[in-house]
Amino acid sequence: MFPTRRRLLAGSAGAFAAVAAPPPLLAQTPPWAPPAPSGLDAIAERKRMFFGSAVDNAQLRDDPALMARVAAECGMVVSEAGFKWAALEPEAGRFDFASADALLRFAAEHRQRVRGHTLVWHEANPKWLDDALTPRSGESILAGYIDTVCSHFRGQLVHWDVVNEPLHPEDGQPLGLRATPWLRALGPRYLDLAFHATAQSDPAALRVLNEFGLDYAVPWQERRRAALLTLLETLLKRGVPVQAVGLQGHLNAAETALDQGVVARFVADIAAMGLLVLVTELDVRDDGLPADIPLRDAAVANHARTWLDAVLPNPAVRGVLTWGLSDRRSWLNEKFPRADGLPQRPLPLDADLRPKKLWDAIAGAFAAVPER
Ligand code: XIL
Repeated sequence: MFPTRRRLLAGSAGAFAAVAAPPPLLAQTPPWAPPAPSGLDAIAERKRMFFGSAVDNAQLRDDPALMARVAAECGMVVSEAGFKWAALEPEAGRFDFASADALLRFAAEHRQRVRGHTLVWHEANPKWLDDALTPRSGESILAGYIDTVCSHFRGQLVHWDVVNEPLHPEDGQPLGLRATPWLRALGPRYLDLAFHATAQSDPAALRVLNEFGLDYAVPWQERRRAALLTLLETLLKRGVPVQAVGLQGHLNAAETALDQGVVARFVADIAAMGLLVLVTELDVRDDGLPADIPLRDAAVANHARTWLDAVLPNPAVRGVLTWGLSDRRSWLNEKFPRADGLPQRPLPLDADLRPKKLWDAIAGAFAAVPER
């Protein structure tokens, strides 16, 4: 599988070279199982793209049936919370890489790539960081953390989400930036520092700016799209080494303002700056839909297909990860619980690990991408 990938991807220019090199395999424990030829990653690979999903630490530890499906469907994995600051440095100066390394071992055994999520965010930070972060200490804390973490994983991750969710135009800050502790301590240059530090400590990992709320033709998302394009232009102009945009792709099946032209133009605008695009956290909320399962599954699938058909054909777009593989567990049940108490059905496999219409929609969207 890797030789094929390497051959297909070799020769791609510029930033994509970083994606093309698979991570060195850790100690192999044969027999390893590469993603199944009938899985979503294999379907994506026919277009030189990838499919993957987020995995949670507890699933990796306790749910071998789910992990077998992850092995079969995914060419890439990402940890839901295991690479966030609170997980990696729970106390100042005490790093804990045990769970993150367990995911790396799983991925190596199944010949999967791993992406890192995320270095700089305003959530999932350890309590000590709130107290420690000041305008004086900010730069050395940020640079020191990135150096330690990126050096630990150096050469093993294909992407890093260097900065996650930096935008919130409603905060009234320069460039539409979110009023985070990082912005307060360092101003907008926290982004510069983070991207430069990552480039220095793990130059081969594709450096991604990851963001949500960019999908619909509604005013607040229009503002976020405009802010993101301006931010990217500003960063690139001052030599900040950002290489890709992660569209989280947290969709809502009840949202009617889905305009394929708007979505495709936005992706094209990012691509025109020479940046790659990844779909990093696809899932589809159904809390605005009635309880009926066939109805929900069809609406979720149609909605995702409409959005994916607008995103994927652009050659700058390299792949899709869903935020979990099976409805067994989704963050959406905590974040946006359905009023009727039923679990949401936002992911490609149902709770019994059977493919749903969303699986077909993702497979169909990859199949519809023109040859690359
Ligand atoms: C979520 C996880 O899924 C939850 O388990 C956790 O409690 C909070 O974070 N955008 C992101 C992800 O970038 O990191 C978030 O993940 C979901 C929204």
